[in-house]
Amino acid sequence: MTSTALAMRPTGIASIGLNLPPLAMSVEELAPLRGEDPKKYRLGLGCDSMSLCTPEYGVVELATEAARRALDRWSGDRDRIGMLAVGTETAFDMSRPLSAWVADKLGLSGAVRSYEVKHACYGGTLAVRQATEWRMSGAAGDQAALVIAADEALYEPGDPGEPTQGAGAVAMVIDEPEVATIDSVSYPWSEPQFDFWRPVGESYPRVDGPLSLDCYRRAAENCFKALVGTKNPEQVLSELAAICFHVPFPKMVKKAVVRVGEFFSWDAERIERFFLEKVNPTMVWNRLCGNAYTASLWISVANALKGLSAGQRIAAFSYGSGFGAELLTLEAGPRAAAGDWASDIEADLSQRRSIDGATYSRSRE
Ligand code: COA
Repeated sequence: MTSTALAMRPTGIASIGLNLPPLAMSVEELAPLRGEDPKKYRLGLGCDSMSLCTPEYGVVELATEAARRALDRWSGDRDRIGMLAVGTETAFDMSRPLSAWVADKLGLSGAVRSYEVKHACYGGTLAVRQATEWRMSGAAGDQAALVIAADEALYEPGDPGEPTQGAGAVAMVIDEPEVATIDSVSYPWSEPQFDFWRPVGESYPRVDGPLSLDCYRRAAENCFKALVGTKNPEQVLSELAAICFHVPFPKMVKKAVVRVGEFFSWDAERIERFFLEKVNPTMVWNRLCGNAYTASLWISVANALKGLSAGQRIAAFSYGSGFGAELLTLEAGPRAAAGDWASDIEADLSQRRSIDGATYSRSRE
């Protein structure tokens, strides 16, 4: 096949693998430790439980297991993987990329461009875009990319963000769009801000909560405005089967949806209906695992794609503090209907162990 023919070939997600860590704690266990009403966490923030890593099972294991699952489901030959890109903000080395640890465990070496992408929670999406554009450009030839978004979101004990903690990984092989085509046109928006950041050498992030919320809403408004352009917003958005968001915690998503709806001059009832029909169902897995930074949006996308008929379309809004955002559109492929990656979440949820507040407190000492 000529490089021009390869460049014109549709590109997207060929397979998906997910992984959640072995522990979890419900927000009801955390609330009394912090002197808070559990309803604040459950209703005020929309959280349910947080996935937790162990000393033995951290971001490398999460990323590797998600990748193994995605590769097992992929019909291609592993020798065709020419790119390994890991989006994360849980890196533990300023030089060596997290992808090197993952490649080591997967036995992936040789003619592979292996690297890490950092831009807060946006890093996984940037890796997806780079892989997609690499294939669409023709530069990849017949090679495919393995893209992983993996993170452990931990806050300092007592930080207001603590109930939003979580962890998880999503891996995708970017190749023939058997699961979903990723549209070549997307809608980015960025502004330099200090809304959420982690200075070198510090273990936990610093957050300006209200600023972070405001940046996220502004980014959503601008990205959706660009998507709709001069068309009728009602028509553009109602044609989408689902609209996925980066999920720091579900209430933040709701607030962004309200901002987008108000921008389009929708009344409160229309906004609520839109949220309940198109957005809320995509966050089922996010509520059970908490914030997984780079993986959060892709957990929501994996949930939304499963069961779709070929040709149905979804949108995915990515946000990373600092800040950078991008709205992507995807079209379900023939393998979306089977949604076989849902079994990863079901297996991990059934095997994970719930811990109580006392055990959690000891683990954070
Ligand atoms: N029952 C029900 N709801 C309650 C409640 C109760 N007993 N007590 C409080 N609430 C509601 C509040 O009204 C508020 O809802 P609203 O925002 O709709 O008004 C919500 O719970 C949160 O309360 P708030 O006092 O604002 O929380 P906080 O000051 O403790 O902040 C976070 C918590 C998580 C919002 C904040 O730490 C934060 O923004 N963190 C990080 C954000 C982030 O992840 N950014 C980076 C990625 S984008």
